[in-house]
Amino acid sequence: MKKYTLTSIAKKFQAGEKLTMLTAYDATFAGIIDKTGIDMILVGDSLGQVIQGDNSTIPVKLDEMIYHTRCVTRATEHALVICDLPFLSYQASTSQAILSAGRALKEGYCEAVKVEGGVEIKDKVKAITQSGIPVMGHIGLKPQSIHSMGGYKIHGKNMDEEEKLINEAKVLEQAGAFAIVLEGITLEVSKKITQSINIPTIGIGSGPHCSGQVLVIYDLLGMNPLFKPRFIKTYGDGYNFISDAVKKYIDEVKTSSFPTPEHSFNQEK
Ligand code: KIV
Repeated sequence: MKKYTLTSIAKKFQAGEKLTMLTAYDATFAGIIDKTGIDMILVGDSLGQVIQGDNSTIPVKLDEMIYHTRCVTRATEHALVICDLPFLSYQASTSQAILSAGRALKEGYCEAVKVEGGVEIKDKVKAITQSGIPVMGHIGLKPQSIHSMGGYKIHGKNMDEEEKLINEAKVLEQAGAFAIVLEGITLEVSKKITQSINIPTIGIGSGPHCSGQVLVIYDLLGMNPLFKPRFIKTYGDGYNFISDAVKKYIDEVKTSSFPTPEHSFNQEK
């Protein structure tokens, strides 16, 4: 397996192969995911929720994203690694956007960055890509704009939203984005967006017609039984796997069945 690059991702897309992306935030998970043949690993600012325990992505800092990106890139040999630029690390000006994206590459060792927004950030996307840094866009449900959007809701339910989303995707493509995450968009509109542009769409909660899919790794693994939105499919029972293993460990320590001499050292050995 070779290192995936923008060129190899584009080739797969042009050949009609579905693209796969998952989030990772640390070296252990990144190492496991990377060896599966996944195309892209996103160090998502969803770490604000799943790692830091906050209730949104808004408090996440650029330094924290860079720290986690470096943890991931140390363990990744094949997948293209993308660092999510967090809230207010790119919106203020084109120079802020270039400098933040530059830090993600220079200090986080990733190969691309992701930014949320459409027309309102097109100058930033253009400035970052012109600096030689690949950019992934993100439209529809934009968690960094949760307050201005009035909550987590599905987009593309009427003609106005449909036209706006298709236009945003075209603007991002023209600004130089190499792919666009479509989050929480109706499957009809996701299909139209995917047909309207020549770069891959990576869907989450946006139906089967996107060029690829992304999920938060903890959601895929079923780590939070209380978080069950319709768009998530769990491929494991991570919560009970961990909980059962820990309970077994507690029981074995309490009953002195762990450690045994097998797990111990003696003077001769
Ligand atoms: O932060 C994140 O994990 C994301 C994905 C859900 C697309 O933006």
